[in-house]
Amino acid sequence: MERRPFIAGNWKMHLTLAEAVQLAQAVAPTCAACPDRDIMIAPSFTSLAAVCAAVKGSGLQVGAQNIAWDREGAYTGEISSPMLKDLGVSLAIIGHSERRHIFGEDNAMINRRLHGALDGDIRPILCIGETLADREAGKTFAVLDTQVREGLQAVNSAQMECVVLAYEPVWAIGTGKTASKEQAQEVHAFLRQLLAAMYEKTVAETVRILYGGSVKPDNIDDLMAQPDIDGALVGGAALKAESFDRIARFR
Ligand code: G3H
Repeated sequence: MERRPFIAGNWKMHLTLAEAVQLAQAVAPTCAACPDRDIMIAPSFTSLAAVCAAVKGSGLQVGAQNIAWDREGAYTGEISSPMLKDLGVSLAIIGHSERRHIFGEDNAMINRRLHGALDGDIRPILCIGETLADREAGKTFAVLDTQVREGLQAVNSAQMECVVLAYEPVWAIGTGKTASKEQAQEVHAFLRQLLAAMYEKTVAETVRILYGGSVKPDNIDDLMAQPDIDGALVGGAALKAESFDRIARFR
């Protein structure tokens, strides 16, 4: 089944307002050159409004780096779906390994955030991935199985149409150590089988699964040639217009 490729840039905690707008404007023209794929950037919360305004009409999608589970309330430091919708944000990264490992977010919280996104008409990008210790202990598939099942708890097949998965092995994030295309494909195929077991086969065939972890202009083509890799979640290389543009123009 044909799945529309999806290249996403996660800017993490980088760039001032002016820098973010400048980079967004530099990246936006890539969309017109690549109409067959979805391209998204996720600036920090402080730059979201200005970036949304700067790229309006270009086709470049703007995502948030996290999202609250409730629409409003006493949640210091959180940003909700109506606030994001208000700006023109359409997607949210949820469960990124930095949220899990630095800020202690667990699968239960991530699942609540995911429902918050779905209920608020924001498409969630659910991140999952094993640590180096998990991989070396032979626990990769068990860890991913738990993250997917608990992260998608009570999400139905219809809602799955809006969900994107991002496989990001923690040992490959920001380390320069990309998973080999074979390692990534093996996990993506496993995830698709898992989705088939949890939902109908059509859900497994239509959900897009992105790879993340040291994606660069020189490895994107090999990764995208794998049958179960539908796109990339790019960190460091998304901070340079030239490298993100090349990644988005994968062949
Ligand atoms: O969200 C993006 C990932 O954490 C990958 O980051 O490309 O710098 O390894 P990276």
